[in-house]
Amino acid sequence: MKIAFATSEAFPYAKTGGLGDVAGALPKALAQLGCDVKVFLPKYSSIDNTKFDLSYCWPIGEMPIRVYGKTHNVNVFTANLPGSDVPVYFIDSPEYYNRPEIYTNDEDEDERFILFSKAVLEALQRLKWQPDVINCSDWQTGLIPLYIKDNYSWDRFFDPVATVLTIHNIGYQGRFPQETLYKAEIRPELFYENSPVEIWNSLSFLKTGLMYADMINTVSETYAQEILSSTYGAGLEGVLHYRINDFFGIINGVDYNVWNPESDKHIPYHYTKESLHRKIENKKYLLNAIRMPFYPEKPLIGIISRLVKQKGFDLIQSAFNQLIKLDAQWVILGSGEDQYEDFFRAAAYSHPDRIYTYIGYNNELSHLIEAASDIFLMPSAYEPCGLNQIYSLRYGSVPVVRRTGGLADTVFDWHDLLYNGSEAGTGFSFNDYTPDALNSTLYRAVKTFDDKTTWERIMFNGMSQDFSWEVSAKKYLELYQKAVKKRRG
Ligand code: ADP
Ligand code: GLC
Repeated sequence: MKIAFATSEAFPYAKTGGLGDVAGALPKALAQLGCDVKVFLPKYSSIDNTKFDLSYCWPIGEMPIRVYGKTHNVNVFTANLPGSDVPVYFIDSPEYYNRPEIYTNDEDEDERFILFSKAVLEALQRLKWQPDVINCSDWQTGLIPLYIKDNYSWDRFFDPVATVLTIHNIGYQGRFPQETLYKAEIRPELFYENSPVEIWNSLSFLKTGLMYADMINTVSETYAQEILSSTYGAGLEGVLHYRINDFFGIINGVDYNVWNPESDKHIPYHYTKESLHRKIENKKYLLNAIRMPFYPEKPLIGIISRLVKQKGFDLIQSAFNQLIKLDAQWVILGSGEDQYEDFFRAAAYSHPDRIYTYIGYNNELSHLIEAASDIFLMPSAYEPCGLNQIYSLRYGSVPVVRRTGGLADTVFDWHDLLYNGSEAGTGFSFNDYTPDALNSTLYRAVKTFDDKTTWERIMFNGMSQDFSWEVSAKKYLELYQKAVKKRRG
């Protein structure tokens, strides 16, 4: 099967969150199953030609691509996903992608991804490489399914090409004013109240993708259920009900070549579930590096996150006066909304021995925190899949999570299972999105930490979990087959 994977992030080239990890790993797992996969990614200015050894793609050459009446001369570079022969095609349009950040609030944010979506299709034409499926990711590539069925339908090349749209986060819908129709060259008659492209009087790239893709999926089974409700569906639950027969949940996997305490190149002391005692050396190392005192008997609570409301930071803020009474230390890595950045900066300032905050993006530190922490906190309001709690399981950094989306599918509460006579729990979790539920659950974890035998059992259970991509990649393959069948009748 031939798969074109269109994405706005792919590790190690471009990443702000979990989409980057997924797009850096799933295509490789598909290739291992025998698929022929090509990844398409914008060439952001942060992607350095020399560092990544990119080469110019002569078979494609320069492509004139029109957005909002203006023609842009787009070039394409290539390199492989490291450790594989899966090629990545970098769509180069400096005017759009030479910006300090991958995503912007600039006025032409819509144009940036209109150009990308068209460029993917035109690159396929020029490569004369006809995929069976284009797997689109989130709103940034949501127009592709419509383009195939409408704007580019003159080209019979696309007749057999099916599309799948993967929802990594339904909270980001790519909503733009009606005027964006003209920028995107979408026929104006497609825009009316409740039309396939319209929501709340705006044009939504995500809704468009959900309506026109042959198959749809999201990144965990629980989230797939949740977003059918108005509480989690962010206004698109009706669309998902309409597409219910074509909508699936597939849990993300982990690239254990990148996230593995046995071989992680960013951590000083490697360890396995058989040499758990070595983990504490990483904690000592990190605490020393950040100039915090080391107490073996006090748990270190780690947080690595985009600092946005989705991740439960309003809850942490409201519960903070209680949480700080727990006998623990904290290390927080993240960036995002000012209010949370300021909050954690201030918290570290007033508790220098207890709280360390690093505001910014730091890949190396994220690995070190996984290896050094005793507890990993992720009390999300919603979580499509979540990868950090899965990494934490493998690093023996026991997750404390809210039971929602992928968190519910990957972390099993120690006490809940114990109550049912099983010692298979891997973490601690709570249902209610309240400061009390968060506080009492973290309290449970911190108290359990005192009981070393139990704690090591929980760590061992977590480290024994296997979330490698193989199983999920097979499910993607089945989904692609369904999409092809639907498209070709
Ligand atoms: P989301 O995609 O919603 O942000 P995930 O848990 O799926 O959440 O994935 C987050 C990914 O981004 C993880 O690989 C995590 O380590 C990484 N990450 C998040 N914030 C930072 C940061 N400030 N520095 C380095 N890596 C980060
Ligand atoms: C999104 C979600 C996160 C998920 C990631 C990769 O960013 O917020 O839960 O793990 O995509 O699918």
